[in-house]
Amino acid sequence: MKKSSISSIQSQLVIYFAVATLVPAGIATLVGMKLIYDQVITRAEMKTLSDMNSAREIYRNKLSQIESIARLTAARSLVVNALVQGDRTFLQKDLPKVLKREKLDMLTLVNRQGVVVCRGRNPATFGDSMMSDLFVQRVQQTRRIATGTDIIPHPSLLKESPELAAQAFMEITPTPKAKARTDKVETSGMMLKAAVPLFDERNEFLGMLLGGVLLNRNFEIVDKINQIVHEGEVYKGRGTGTATIFQGDLRISTNVKNQDGSRAISTLVSDEVHDAVLSEGTRWVGDAFVVNAWYITAYEPIRGIDNQIIGMLYVGILKQPFDDVLWGTLAMFGGVALGGVILTVIIAVFQARRISRPLKTLEGVAQQIADGDYGREVIIHAPDEIEHLAKSINQMAKKLDVEKRELEDWGNTLEKRVQERTDEIKKIHSQLFRSEKLASLGKLAAGVAHEINNPLTGILTNSSLLLEDLEIGDPKRDDVEIIVKETIRCREIVKRLLDFARQTKPQKKLTNVNVLMENIVLLVRNQASFRNIEIDRHLEENLPDILSDTDQIQQVFINIILNAAEAMTSGGKLIIASNLSKDRQFINVTFADSGPGIPEEHRERIFDPFYTTKEHGTGLGLAISYGIVEQHGGTISVESCVGKGSTFTVQLPASTADSGGK
Ligand SMILES: Nc1ncnc2c1ncn2[C@@H]1O[C@H](COP(=O)(O)OP(=O)(O)OP(=O)(O)O)[C@@H](O)[C@H]1O
Ligand SMILES: [Mg+2]
Repeated sequence: MKKSSISSIQSQLVIYFAVATLVPAGIATLVGMKLIYDQVITRAEMKTLSDMNSAREIYRNKLSQIESIARLTAARSLVVNALVQGDRTFLQKDLPKVLKREKLDMLTLVNRQGVVVCRGRNPATFGDSMMSDLFVQRVQQTRRIATGTDIIPHPSLLKESPELAAQAFMEITPTPKAKARTDKVETSGMMLKAAVPLFDERNEFLGMLLGGVLLNRNFEIVDKINQIVHEGEVYKGRGTGTATIFQGDLRISTNVKNQDGSRAISTLVSDEVHDAVLSEGTRWVGDAFVVNAWYITAYEPIRGIDNQIIGMLYVGILKQPFDDVLWGTLAMFGGVALGGVILTVIIAVFQARRISRPLKTLEGVAQQIADGDYGREVIIHAPDEIEHLAKSINQMAKKLDVEKRELEDWGNTLEKRVQERTDEIKKIHSQLFRSEKLASLGKLAAGVAHEINNPLTGILTNSSLLLEDLEIGDPKRDDVEIIVKETIRCREIVKRLLDFARQTKPQKKLTNVNVLMENIVLLVRNQASFRNIEIDRHLEENLPDILSDTDQIQQVFINIILNAAEAMTSGGKLIIASNLSKDRQFINVTFADSGPGIPEEHRERIFDPFYTTKEHGTGLGLAISYGIVEQHGGTISVESCVGKGSTFTVQLPASTADSGGK
């Protein structure tokens, strides 16, 4: 999923880049091609039109050439005289000569009435009227030269000569896209014609000389157009320039070639051009498929002497060269665009990798961070934004690391604190428990002691008197002595019980612990039980006094010292020390002996009343001491290591009224 999202950044970049290049490149190519196409075609059409002008000029040239020949011949006095005198013999010799020399198809002399005097082409046929001929009518009316194109009907052609009629005869080839024609053959011909009037010396109108060239199957003009306009240029085996003369809609003279190389005459013009040029008399310019190739063409009407449209002049240039230029340009444009796209895609791929590779690295590091490894630092070379992202991730990882450690530390401290609090609560709880226990035991003990005390006093008094009364050596004396001794012991126990249960408040006065301690040591040192015990004192000087009941505190200290001595029956060392607590609130007195120590399981119980491990012990020493110290607002505690010794610590509040006094 993640992988595909990164690779999709790459493919998206490539697509965007490609589209961003392809679309403008495509539009530029299309617009460019359109502009170029329009330019090329416009130029080609303009060239066709200028070719048309040249073609028309060549056509007219031919006409004026025919006119000149007719004019010069008509001006010859021999010809004029022969006409005046009716000398047909001369004319029958002379006119054929001129016709041949000047390559005319017709040279016919007609008299004032329009009757044929002599035919240069066919001298044997004469005497027929040519008044139906438009040119003859025009010259007769105007006495001026008439020049132009004319349609010669089949009978007239026949009169001129059967060969001429045969030259004009054409079987119409069915042509697709052409207007349908009912007739299958064309028998009339189209001729360039000039009619020149003849006058005598008195300028009397005598008749006229008609000269003409048949255009059907006569390729002189179209070939000349091709030669002059296109200089016979050939493109890929095909002539680039074409010219055609139409008689009506029929091709009668052309240099457009058929597939077999023959000239493509006898076909018809397309319907479209027919309508524009022959019907409406306008010029037509545009692309046309002529015989077997596309041409850029121009057609214009050829008009007869009476201004009737009788045919068309056509020029066309082969479209192939222009198309080739166009396709070449398109290929070039396409190549450049394709090259651009390829280059863009390569850049896009490179750029996309430059972005996606560091992203992948970042993804990996982010995953490691998610897995709890904050130690990895990302060092990447990438675009600024991604480098900033990497820096942020590094910072985040560092912060997470620090915070994690802090959290762990805090967790540890919390555990320790909870433990401490729990211990404290346990301690307080056990102290409370013990205090309550001692209080209720104290009440019981006090009641019992009180009840026992009086009878005991009675027993002791009476047994002592009885002992005094018995003589020395009396066998009863030993028993009475035991009664007295045991009763004393009982009284001692009762006394201690009363001590333990004592409800009275301590009579407090300022006491110096060190002084008190020195006295106690002096007191106990000489006792038999201390013979093998070394007592060391480490008493801190200038301790503040304590506010206490001196007798009671002395009793506490003696209890502890006696216990130590009893623990070290075969000798040892007792270190007594005093000092001020760091907060100067308490005075600590410690008693460290080198006795056997107290096992863990007994340690809890030694402050309990009647707990003792000694044969004659009461188990009240420490219980009484605990009560006294508690009454003084202090604490008593023990630390012990089995086999090494025990240390009792009594902590009493230091007096604030006097500090440092002795
Ligand atoms: N310094 C010590 N070393 C080892 N055990 C001790 C020490 N002090 C006290 N004990 C133990 O604590 C018990 C209770 O002491 P406590 O002073 O209350 O009573 P006792 O000494 O046994 O009897 P009594 O004090 O009446 O003679 C002792 O029996 C002894 O087992
Ligand atoms: Mg004791």
